Amino acid sequence: MIKLGILGVGDLTEKMVRGLLRDAGEMEVFLSPRGREKACTLSRDLSCRVMPDNQAVVDAADIILIGVRPGQLIELAQQVTLRNDQKLISLVSGVSVNELRRLFGIQRCVRAMLSYAAEINRSTVAIFPADAEAQALLRPLGNLISLASETEFELATVSACMNGWFYFLLHDLQHWLIEKGLPPERARALVTSSMEDCAAYAKHQDSLPIRDLGQSIATPGTFTAQGLEMLGLHQANAAWNAACEVVFDALLTQSGRGSLCNLDTAEH
Ligand SMILES: NC(=O)c1ccc[n+]([C@@H]2O[C@H](COP(=O)([O-])OP(=O)(O)OC[C@H]3O[C@@H](n4cnc5c(N)ncnc54)[C@H](OP(=O)(O)O)[C@@H]3O)[C@@H](O)[C@H]2O)c1
Repeated sequence: MIKLGILGVGDLTEKMVRGLLRDAGEMEVFLSPRGREKACTLSRDLSCRVMPDNQAVVDAADIILIGVRPGQLIELAQQVTLRNDQKLISLVSGVSVNELRRLFGIQRCVRAMLSYAAEINRSTVAIFPADAEAQALLRPLGNLISLASETEFELATVSACMNGWFYFLLHDLQHWLIEKGLPPERARALVTSSMEDCAAYAKHQDSLPIRDLGQSIATPGTFTAQGLEMLGLHQANAAWNAACEVVFDALLTQSGRGSLCNLDTAEH
């Protein structure tokens, strides 16, 4: 029986708990009381227990999942004492494994990065360092990718931000279709399906560079090529690169500094 404690019941951990308990065999979940509305809803919908305080969560669990925001981590660390035989899995962006070890006083610390699709067991599940127990726990939530270094993990965090940006891209494309006359539900179905089938085919053809797949569609004289030329003229991809750079810089600065001061604005 896995005993999982959640410290920080928020937007992401709520979805992870729903995904974990969808077809979890033997798992008990203990929730911290803050974020009370979400914690109470989870305990009503699923077999979770809301504990009286954070230490009670720690005392009941073998694996502790941390889902507070970066600026809330120091306060949380001061409220709990973990046992050496426990494992900590942190979702907190930009906080290194060494910093987690220092704050919580235990060695077995793992970082994980997921998306809201954890709720439907379709999230990217990035993990560092590789850890069999953490991987076994989180694998049901989606597509597990184990990163080889802390820097790789920060890059995975940038990739998780791309996931958020894709929603805005999809929104804009959907709304272009709507403005031209498509009903919203059909416009939504078209753009989401198009994104899905692109990802599925790129995965299927994994020996081909993704660019080659695009080039094989955007051959000279096609409408795809005509639109691609316009995207190039507007430097559409340069804007995405700039967004990635700014987030990556911020993450490296934050984790390199090893300090959790002034992190209130650096969430995810
Ligand atoms: N959201 C995402 O898409 C996403 C994706 C990847 C990673 N992350 C990372 O995941 C973490 C959580 O993000 P989120 O968006 O889920 O945050 P969130 O919705 O703000 O949830 C944080 C929760 O932690 C609670 N909390 C704060 N301090 C606490 C303490 N000392 N003890 C117990 N609970 C405490 C908060 O309660 P109060 O409301 O009472 O403060 C809130 O319920 C962040 O570190 C972020 O970097 C988020």
